Amino acid sequence: MTITFTTEPAVPLPAEKRAALLEAPAFGEVFTDHMISIDWDRDRGWHDARLHPYGPLVLDPSAQVFHYGQEVFEGMKAYRRPDGTVVTFRPYANAARLNRSCARMAMPELPEETFVEALELLVTTDRDWVPDRPGHSLYLRPFMIATQHTIGFYGPSAAYRFMVIASPAASYFKAGAKPLTVWLSQDYTRAAPGGTGEAKCGGNYAGTLVAQAQAREKGCDQVVWLDSAERRWVDEMGTSNLFFVYGERLVTPELSGTLLAGVTRDSVLALAADLGYQAEEGRISMEQWRADAESGVLTEVFSCGTSSMVTPVGFVRSVDGDWTIGGGVPGPVTSRLREELSGIQAGSRPDPFGWVH
Ligand code: COI
Repeated sequence: MTITFTTEPAVPLPAEKRAALLEAPAFGEVFTDHMISIDWDRDRGWHDARLHPYGPLVLDPSAQVFHYGQEVFEGMKAYRRPDGTVVTFRPYANAARLNRSCARMAMPELPEETFVEALELLVTTDRDWVPDRPGHSLYLRPFMIATQHTIGFYGPSAAYRFMVIASPAASYFKAGAKPLTVWLSQDYTRAAPGGTGEAKCGGNYAGTLVAQAQAREKGCDQVVWLDSAERRWVDEMGTSNLFFVYGERLVTPELSGTLLAGVTRDSVLALAADLGYQAEEGRISMEQWRADAESGVLTEVFSCGTSSMVTPVGFVRSVDGDWTIGGGVPGPVTSRLREELSGIQAGSRPDPFGWVH
């Protein structure tokens, strides 16, 4: 690993302004002083690993990523604990998922150790950027792009670059734990069986933007995706997974290949079981969602994801009508899981799972 430190911080602001920025950062708009880059080509495999100043990339306009979209990414966070130590959460789970995304997008896999070492080096170097306010963190964005210069569509790119950038973050949803209003998208679908739905690739996000704009027009925070075949089974929500709470029983849509295998989703399943809830994967249709919310057996719904954590969903809007879940207020199961999970990450709760790194 070659290390080049910056002499010009990425945020050339007076100290008090920089402190104010770290107090209330907008998600993903300010980046730390350094980044990591590692290159790959067919002859050398992974090579030229380097930590260097954060800054623009120089890429040939014919680089394959601009044309045929070979790109995958991850999202994770580093937390500062009251004793000053800085930790990440389940980085090997993100490393494994990056490689599953790479396999689907015909991109080279990165050794998990290299992925974790890259994060460690960046977080250690830029540790002053890790916020210390409760609920705040340093969001880490590892990603990989195809860099071969050609617009000939001959197959997978022959060259790639893996990078990691970092950005101080408060909660993704500006309203924090306030219940979300969601729009059930019946015009658009996100993923089809056999497609790329379970890969964390940029194209999956680009394809959702018109539906997200439609959700905003309807006064909603996020889109909920239904399966593409029957258009009735709930897949996931915008940029996160969903859980349905029936008293002491939690159900989350099963990993059918069309939804993202969230690390937070997996953690909530394990944590909920550990706390004594019955936590399972299953299928929920939009009709059942509405009927169960209206009858009151469905007591809570929440979304979960790295950036958004555990966030209650209070209201659903659709072309067929609107409904409210659990009176539209945050429920006790959602609040408890949010507290327990953030407690493990922040160090105020024990970590029986060995998730903290
Ligand atoms: C994450 O939750 O980490 C994501 O990658 C979602 C992104 C749209 C912020």
